[in-house]
Amino acid sequence: MTLELSLNQQPAHLRQGSSIGQPLTRRDGFLKVTGAARYAADNHPPGMLYAVLAVSSIARGRVALLDVEAAKAHAGVVEVMTPENRPPLATDPDAKNNPFMFRLDLLQNDHIRYPNQTIAVVIAETLEAATEGAALLSPRYEAQPARVGLDGAESFVPGGVGIGSPAVHHKGDVEAGLKSAATRIEATYETPAQYHNAMEPHAIVAAWDGDSLSIDTPSQGLAMAQGRIAGLFGIAPENIHIRSPFLGGGFGSKGMISGPQVLGILAARLVGRPVKLVLRREQMYGPVGHRAPTRQTLRMGMDSEGRLTAIGHHARTASSTFDDFFEPAADASHTLYASPAIATSHEAVRLDTGTPLFMRAPGEATGSIALESAIDEAAAACGMDPLEFRQRNYAEVEPMTGKPFSSKALRECYTQASERFGWQRRPLQPRQMPDKDGFLTGWGIGTATFPAIMFQAEARAVLRADGSGLMETGAQDMGQGAWTAFAQIAADGLGLDIDQVDFRAGSSDLPNAGIAGGSGHTATAGMAIHNAGAAVITRLADLATRHEASPLFGAGNEGVLARGGRLYRRDDESRSESYGEILARAGLAEIDGRGTGTPDSASREAYAMHAHGAVFAEVKVDPDFGQIRVTRLVGAFAAGRVINPRLVRSQYYGGMIWGVSFALHEEAVTDRRSGRIQNANLAEYHIPVNADVPSVAALLVHEDDPYVNALGIKGVGEIGITGTAGAVANAVWHATGVRPRRFPIRIEDLLG
Ligand code: MOS
Repeated sequence: MTLELSLNQQPAHLRQGSSIGQPLTRRDGFLKVTGAARYAADNHPPGMLYAVLAVSSIARGRVALLDVEAAKAHAGVVEVMTPENRPPLATDPDAKNNPFMFRLDLLQNDHIRYPNQTIAVVIAETLEAATEGAALLSPRYEAQPARVGLDGAESFVPGGVGIGSPAVHHKGDVEAGLKSAATRIEATYETPAQYHNAMEPHAIVAAWDGDSLSIDTPSQGLAMAQGRIAGLFGIAPENIHIRSPFLGGGFGSKGMISGPQVLGILAARLVGRPVKLVLRREQMYGPVGHRAPTRQTLRMGMDSEGRLTAIGHHARTASSTFDDFFEPAADASHTLYASPAIATSHEAVRLDTGTPLFMRAPGEATGSIALESAIDEAAAACGMDPLEFRQRNYAEVEPMTGKPFSSKALRECYTQASERFGWQRRPLQPRQMPDKDGFLTGWGIGTATFPAIMFQAEARAVLRADGSGLMETGAQDMGQGAWTAFAQIAADGLGLDIDQVDFRAGSSDLPNAGIAGGSGHTATAGMAIHNAGAAVITRLADLATRHEASPLFGAGNEGVLARGGRLYRRDDESRSESYGEILARAGLAEIDGRGTGTPDSASREAYAMHAHGAVFAEVKVDPDFGQIRVTRLVGAFAAGRVINPRLVRSQYYGGMIWGVSFALHEEAVTDRRSGRIQNANLAEYHIPVNADVPSVAALLVHEDDPYVNALGIKGVGEIGITGTAGAVANAVWHATGVRPRRFPIRIEDLLG
């Protein structure tokens, strides 16, 4: 297939350097380990007060009584904000002008629609006084029965799922495919509600100066947050300055500005002083999003050679009673396995919870755990090795669209990971590998996939007469190492050593870098940085090649290379000139250039774009007690160009460990009577610690993808979770002979 590629699709790096690819340590690592990195809540402007949320202990109803007087009488309490005195807003918090404008709880009335919804904000001179004041409010409620669980309300077919995919979608005739199959499987899997639980809770320090607003708060998307706040308060976005240099994790929960963050701004407005508001851990279980629970039924048919004849994937999920976000779980079946017939469908119920939102691989994580488990069941039904079954059925073109995609890279992932793991010694039947201590050992595999998404970003590059450079973009570092990877791209874009480049990000007064989400930040902001560098180098090359006094005179703009702070003639590298010399001769202190990062629509029309991977897991199960331990994980991933192998590997480790968490640990448990989450804390909401994950290897499979963007970057943040959860579940089956059907896998599921 041939394709006309636009200019930004020409292979990059023709004239820039080689910081990209180096395994640099995080540039902000020293600041973080020494405590010098200033997170949002570390900022204490003069005169600052502390705000504490009082939150609902019921799931549904209204606030009948609040003892505001008792709270206000408490020493140190300055003000109590309730629906009575909350400052006015320019936009109704319940307005929804676009699908990404999520409704917020900003004390607009006395209604309660989920547990942990804010019912008042107490503002005091100290955190202690505010906390005690909040306790003195002693709310009384008129409560109604909570709707909980996937059967707790009537279901309906949502208008769309995820970011606007159709809820029901198909190609071919699944019923006919199942009918003609030699072998069939059908299985239903359940995944629980999960909460993001970033180490840093949502926090804000807000200060008003007239109609200008200064904010320190963690955000995965500064311009979007700025726009939302501007709309709510009826002020110009330029009047809002958001600083977000460091995030202690986000995982999607900091993508949109949340209700509690806006309440911090309202509190500052009310008292006319700077206010700091930090969510307590349990207060994060409600107003800042979560991963919705799912129940998914997979039906598959296979012919006599073990080829899929049909895939049916149906998912039931939940949203809140007042807003729409639907986990697109069944869509995972659109992009992995070839079948002449594929049908996906979703239904949903409305529950008395906070609105679910994007959470690390939304849809792919929940959907792939069911799909990978079902594929394993299908392989077993055909009497085939599960790796061989996947290799036979893996699609050569994107299953739903027929577009070419990088299945070659996936095949390489299967090969490299299985060799490293030692898969070929695996017995087909379960319960065949007891170890010397009597534990049942099992090996499982899961395919990993994530789309290579790009958003929109801008960057500004400067070259200065002293030979140094500056790169500015409002990018966000959630802890993944964006400061470092972007600085590497900036250095190459400017043809400078990384230490000569001043890289600025994390502030809303810099060019809009889009969002750190969808595993698309490095590709999007990275391309903006690359293009800004190219723009300023082009200006510099014009200055040199058009000036008779330059050794580069007459080389033509494309005839020079930028490297180490000098421009060189491509055809004669003995002729060169430093950036400083070129700017000095032109009498310029500095020059700048701008660049954008944007998806190339022509190549996206023609090609399907995904990162791929394969994960192999070993588990050991105690035959008497059913305790499961993951003892080995080997993943291989192909995700385009690797900007920094150390950071990329660390993203894969994080994703894989979250996959273990999904399979074995994580679950928000709802009290069916009250609708409250019973384990809203890090002691009882289980996540894996070091002892739960003894050995993890992530192999970086080389992949040149010339179509995704000129730098060939795909995303690495979310893919690790998608292969691992299924691999662990399948290893549990191989160890025990029991098919896990609900997650996290419980000890009692393995008994009997
Ligand atoms: Mo992620 S769910 O795109 O922050």
